[in-house]
Order: sequence, then structure tokens, then C-alpha cells
Amino acid sequence: MKALILVGGFGTRLRPLTLSVPKPLVDFANKPMILHQIEALKAIGVTEVVLAINYQPEVMLNFLKEFETKLGIKITCSQETEPLGTAGPLALARDKLIDESGEPFFVLNSDVISEYPLKEMIAFHKAHGGEASIMVTKVDEPSKYGVVVTEEETGKVEKFVEKPKIFVGNKINAGIYLLNPSVLDRIQLRPTSIEKEVFPKIAAEKKLFAMVLPGFWMDIGQPRDYITGLRLYLDSLRKKSPANLAAGSHIVGNVIVHETAKIGEGCLIGPDVAIGPGCVVESGVRLSRCTVMRGVRIKKHACISSSIIGWHSTVGQWARVENMTILGEDVHVCDEIYSNGGVVLPHKEIKSSILKPEIVM
Ligand code: GDD
Ligand code: MG
Repeated sequence: MKALILVGGFGTRLRPLTLSVPKPLVDFANKPMILHQIEALKAIGVTEVVLAINYQPEVMLNFLKEFETKLGIKITCSQETEPLGTAGPLALARDKLIDESGEPFFVLNSDVISEYPLKEMIAFHKAHGGEASIMVTKVDEPSKYGVVVTEEETGKVEKFVEKPKIFVGNKINAGIYLLNPSVLDRIQLRPTSIEKEVFPKIAAEKKLFAMVLPGFWMDIGQPRDYITGLRLYLDSLRKKSPANLAAGSHIVGNVIVHETAKIGEGCLIGPDVAIGPGCVVESGVRLSRCTVMRGVRIKKHACISSSIIGWHSTVGQWARVENMTILGEDVHVCDEIYSNGGVVLPHKEIKSSILKPEIVM
């Protein structure tokens, strides 16, 4: 079975992290976003993943080479010379997606995180006999997503409306599809939106079905949603494999700490924290609702909440970093500095406090 992951887009909403790596390689819960997806695909028997990409394919492929062998899955790229939207890339990768088996293939948006119930989705797809299946989930604020109206009992999609201006329902497209090869006959090789041009047509022919996603879901392409996504992910880890969570008197709630990270005396860590490989957290540090990426050093008595600390940065002693502060790669926050929502570009040194949310270039 094959799968295509849509990895285009520049990830501008996740800057400054995406100034260092393409969005799918930004770490989430101690591994690049896209690895969560590739691992889930491998687990249900996908043998080849096609990355639909429109810039820096070599960065992605070089990085993923190691995982091709480790996971035993083929990873290839299908590169666009102009952005083809969310459907055009499927037409471009047509020959890679179709084989003699005539099996359906998966398509995933690259910035969503969930429990990936892909096996259940295959069963659902077989059972309804339509042309395409999409995963849906309920959200409070549906207007920034694709909204799906379904027949309650069968899941048959009656309407698909991308980013509706008026309320049509609260079930939204989760960005996980299982498509029959015949869907490719509906897509031309030009910039096209699967949400606006393809799904509404399949729905009108009553061949599109939606399965309600069990468990959590989040589009983590924006800092606030990324931090919420980590909470949901760790909640689910608590239920499924609690042994992977950190334990001890210094831990509050759900926390993951990479085995190579070092934590000093008298720290209080959690809830909803991820500490990456090679990090050093000195004594007396307080961390909550944050991600600390590979190679970061947090000095004595610093306090970090609701923030993301990019790769190889340092946070000085007694510093206070909070309210959606995002430090890019290799940022150095000096001792006793306060950051209230600072968004700091890579390789900066912060010598004076950031008193209100702003971008530091
Ligand atoms: N290869 C390629 N080329 N990929 C692209 C392109 C392109 O030109 N444009 C967007 N993508 C990829 C993005 O990288 C992402 O993985 C996916 O397509 C969806 O694009 P987003 O820009 O993240 O769209 P969205 O979040 O506003 O909306 C989409 O996702 C929602 C769920 O998170 C839609 O599919 C909505 O219907 C859906 O509800
Ligand atoms: Mg998105």
C-alpha cells in the first residue's frame, strides 16, 4: 500500500522554527512531525511514502534517509516546479501512486497530529464501497477548516465546504484521506485544491464518506495549536503507554524527557512538557506547557511556560520566558531576562527584556 504526504507550503505560521528546517521536520514531542506520520503509515503496512514537495527536497530526503533503513519503508519525493495546491500534487505523482493492485492509497496533510486510526479507516473504506474516505473531527471553531456535513448513520458526505463564512456544521476535515485510484482521473495537472474542486464533486455524486476520528486531533501548524497539540498528545500517551512518560517527585502531570537529557536538583517540571535529546536543565528550573528542543541549556532557576525553545538555544539563570515565546535555533537569552511572547529569530542574543509580544529580528 502507498501513501502521499502533502509537504508543500513554507510554514510561515511556525516561524522562526521553519527558518531552520522545513515545517515537517520541526520536532514535535521529540521527533520531527513527519516521522509521527511515517511511523503510523509503516505500522499498518504502507511500503512506500511519496512526499509531495515544492521546495528543498534534498533537505527532507537527506534527513529521512536514516529512517528509510531504520523503519524499512521507501521514501521518495515528487517535486513541483510551481505550487500545485492540495490536489495538483496527486496528479503529478500519479505514476508513483498507482500500481497493478488497484489498491486505494492514503493522502495526509503534513501538519496534523492524531492517533492515526488508519487500520480502522481501511475497514471503513471497504465497508462503504464509495470512491473516497476522509477522516473528520469536531472542533469549536470550524471556520478555519474544511467543514463536512454528513448523513449521520452512513457517514455519506452531503456537503464539503472549505473555510465557510457562515456556520454549516462543526465536523471538519482532519486532513487524512483514503482514495481509490479513480480519484486521480478527476484531477488535472495544474494548481488545484482538493478541498474546493475535488471533494465537493465526489460528494455530489454520493461517493465520498467521512469517518469520525476517534481520539485527539490537532493541526499543529501554529504555535498556540502546537502547544495545545502537545498536551493532547501527552494525554493520549498517558492512556496508551504511560511507561514512556517521565516519573519522579520533580514531575507534575505529563512530561517526556529524552534519555540523553540531564535534569538538575530541585527542578519542577510539567505539566505538558517535552525535553529533547542532549538538553541540560540546571538546578531549580521550573518548566510547564513547553517544548525544549535538542541541545538546549536552561540555566539555574529559570522559569519557562507556554513557550517553544528552539534547537541549541540557552536560557540564562533566573530568566522568565512565557506567553508563547518562540525562540528560534541557537538563541541566547541572558541571565535575569524576561520574555513575554517574544518571537526571536535564529542566532540572536537577547540582552534586554521583551515586555510585550513582538518579533525580535
Ligand atoms: N505539495 C504541496 N504543494 N503541498 C501543499 C501545497 C502545494 O502547493 N499547498 C499546501 N500544501 C500542503 C501543506 O503543507 C499542508 O500539509 C496541506 O497541504 C494543507 O495545507 P494547509 O496550508 O496546512 O491548509 P489548512 O490547514 O489551511 O487547511 C487544510 O487542512 C485542514 C486541517 O488541518 C484543509 O485540508 C482543510 O480542509 C482542513 O480542515
Ligand atoms: Mg494546516
